[in-house]
Amino acid sequence: MPRSIIAGIGKYVPNNVFTNDDMKQFMDTSDEWIQERTGVKERRFADRTGETTTTMGIEAAKIAMDRAGVTPQDIDFIIFATLSPDYYFPGCGVLVQRAMKMKEIGALDVRNQCSGFVYALSVGDQFIRSGMYKNILIIGSEKHSFIMDFTTRGRNISVIFGDGAGAVVLQPTEDDHRGVLSTHLHSDGNDAEILAAYNPGTHANYWKKDLADYDNAEIGELYQSHAMIEKGQNYPVMHGPDVFKKAITKFPEVIIEALEKNGYSASDLRLLVPHQANLRISQYVQQKLKLRNDQVFNNIQKYGNTTAASVPIALCEAWEEGRLKEGDLVCLAAFGSGFTWASALLKW
Ligand SMILES: CC(C)(COP(=O)(O)OP(=O)(O)OC[C@H]1O[C@@H](n2cnc3c(N)ncnc32)[C@H](O)[C@@H]1OP(=O)(O)O)[C@@H](O)C(=O)NCCC(=O)NCCS
Repeated sequence: MPRSIIAGIGKYVPNNVFTNDDMKQFMDTSDEWIQERTGVKERRFADRTGETTTTMGIEAAKIAMDRAGVTPQDIDFIIFATLSPDYYFPGCGVLVQRAMKMKEIGALDVRNQCSGFVYALSVGDQFIRSGMYKNILIIGSEKHSFIMDFTTRGRNISVIFGDGAGAVVLQPTEDDHRGVLSTHLHSDGNDAEILAAYNPGTHANYWKKDLADYDNAEIGELYQSHAMIEKGQNYPVMHGPDVFKKAITKFPEVIIEALEKNGYSASDLRLLVPHQANLRISQYVQQKLKLRNDQVFNNIQKYGNTTAASVPIALCEAWEEGRLKEGDLVCLAAFGSGFTWASALLKW
């Protein structure tokens, strides 16, 4: 059975840099608070009307495909992970297929938020192992700047997130010394509402009370009401301390699971590339696993948390900086809304 390798990787971040001081024009916050609690110094925001989640993904994909030596015509499956899609439906995958003039291949959107890319990689890995596809394009991309509450009300969440995209081309290899060794996927829906965007949606306050105010209960006024907009119920919400507590348990657990499954320990890792949730979370994980600074890659300081894009952006940057050589043991790990969490262990 073949293994899958990342044959090419690319990233794209928009040109617009927003520093923590720039955030002060929208809300009551400070550079000191943001850096101390999250590690973020600045983030990129997409051009408001000139860029979308899909177009950023395409920019990253072009680089990944170029580095893999393939053209859009060679791609036989697209997997697109995002929580900020261009359209509620259809997904971004079909927009990639159209814009890149690909063949009538399958296109799958993954909605697993921060762990979306690792889930997507796992799905791609299964298709490669089974022999079904030979060139899978996997994209993680987000345009958070379009969907956040940039007022003091939303400051606990909007200061953390940034825009950007990462992409890989997955191919089969018979080389025993390279490729994805295993992937590990988990979820616990008990805390689904702790980090979420409830509206617009079809929940009708079924799971929890008061998530949405409906002007009246007539059909046609349920999906998106004036009251929801007035009360800011259309923005994502997060209870940060609860997310933090769960993340620092599940991140180490899923990393150790991947290492143990393959007979390794943390000291064998050349690099851990964690989802860039929050620098304090990464530092906690590093400490818990007794990893050296050079074994953990962080770039949240420059880009903020880019959700489904964060792992491929960080992995790409690590590779571009020469921190990964052929055969190096690398662990990708992510945790986020759902809650869902996941890891992938690979030989670069
Ligand atoms: C979000 C997070 C940084 C908030 O830090 P915290 O210490 O837990 O802060 P709290 O939410 O308890 O808020 C503490 C205070 O800071 C304030 N505050 C929140 N955001 C602020 C901001 N951007 N600027 C200034 N003050 C802010 C709060 O209003 C609160 O004020 P109060 O004490 O007067 O009520 C932290 O909980 C965290 O990192 N959680 C994990 C989140 C994460 O990683 N999410 C991504 C997962 S994929």
